[in-house]
Amino acid sequence: MIRLSVSRSGPLSGEIHVPGDKSISHRALLLGAIASGRSEITGFLPCNDCLATRTCVRALGIEVEKHDETSLVVHGKGRHGLLPPKAALDCMRSGTTMRLLIGILVGQPFDSVLTGDPQLLCRPMARVIEPLVQMRAEIETTDGHAPLTVYGRDLHGITYEMPVASAQVKSAILLAGLYADSPTTVRQPAPTRDHTERMFSAMGAEIVTKEYSVTISSSGISPLSISIPGDFSSAAFPLVAATIVHGSKITLRGVGINPTRIGLLDVLSAMGAHVTAERFRNVGNEPVADLRVQSAHLHGVEIHGDTVVRMIDEFPILAVAAAQAEGTTIVRDAAELRVKETDRIATVAEELTKLGAHIEPCPDGFAVQGPTPLHGAAVSSHGDHRLAMALAVAGLVADGTTQIDDIGCADDSFPGFIGLMRTIGGQYD
Ligand code: S3P
Repeated sequence: MIRLSVSRSGPLSGEIHVPGDKSISHRALLLGAIASGRSEITGFLPCNDCLATRTCVRALGIEVEKHDETSLVVHGKGRHGLLPPKAALDCMRSGTTMRLLIGILVGQPFDSVLTGDPQLLCRPMARVIEPLVQMRAEIETTDGHAPLTVYGRDLHGITYEMPVASAQVKSAILLAGLYADSPTTVRQPAPTRDHTERMFSAMGAEIVTKEYSVTISSSGISPLSISIPGDFSSAAFPLVAATIVHGSKITLRGVGINPTRIGLLDVLSAMGAHVTAERFRNVGNEPVADLRVQSAHLHGVEIHGDTVVRMIDEFPILAVAAAQAEGTTIVRDAAELRVKETDRIATVAEELTKLGAHIEPCPDGFAVQGPTPLHGAAVSSHGDHRLAMALAVAGLVADGTTQIDDIGCADDSFPGFIGLMRTIGGQYD
């Protein structure tokens, strides 16, 4: 286990590129595998989660050539070209790998077993399985969880109202829809990240998207050539760090600013942050910009409704910002946080409290009273990458030394996180 010591930092400065988008990297591999021909991917994120997807895709008989860590060529064999895996597919800790793969595997003429690390085996899978079973899929679970067995079947198109706003569930249904005998429509309670739809469109799938619904018809897809933009969810850590460390000024180059992903930007702006976006462009069918960030005096806000969905992975780092903001920040409608890599309402509250933050959990969110001078303490990441990185940012404004027990899990989404933070002045040993 890799321990990390963090000390209070002086102003952060410099220009950085954050690594490629995790959600898009998973999708490029999976959609590339079932496209007819050669897909070229640059800017791929070589994090543990996406490497799990790469291993699974290879185990399904797809050649993935690695030119360097971030450049891959996927030799897709079309929708019906996958081969039966010789062993259980190991999704490690990656919920996206497992849930999206299920959507592909239900339409195959073979059976497969999916498993993963204990952290993933605790996460709910019934939410994906229910709609797929309505499509006539057959899936055997272990009490609603993985390990699970997917029996390939002929699928039927459905219209499905998702009870929870989840891009993973939506994507699994859309992937299964490629194999169904009639069109499939998914309606979502709030707009979730739309990377799957954008990629499907670019690959020529028959897909019609509206804000709250998507319809896909069975169709083949063409290969893609994609350059993956920087991950906003990774950018969120240096972005908040530069906002709360007094006197900081940094630039983040080439960050994806897909509107379904940047709820944190809107929330930070409402809190008084100084973030400006410039050099707007389109990369891989996704909007991208450079973000300039200066430290700012923040004040508390209330976050609820659709905004929560647009920043679902950013609550650990939002809580750190809120602890430095004047007044109360209230988060509601965020019960989904309880079924992420950890129960993030509980773990974020537990660990930030150790640093001196005033944070009160409730069933569907939390309230943070700030500003609080934080003090160094021994804290735990609970093996949750985003909590680990949020704590590593909190330590930059804490007196004394903050010791994080397992920072290695940051590699699940952001390999090189500590190195990159050091280049802008983060004090890490
Ligand atoms: C993801 C969707 C979100 C997010 C996860 C990645 C995706 O999960 O939290 O990190 O790539 O589709 P849900 O769909 O469960 O909300």
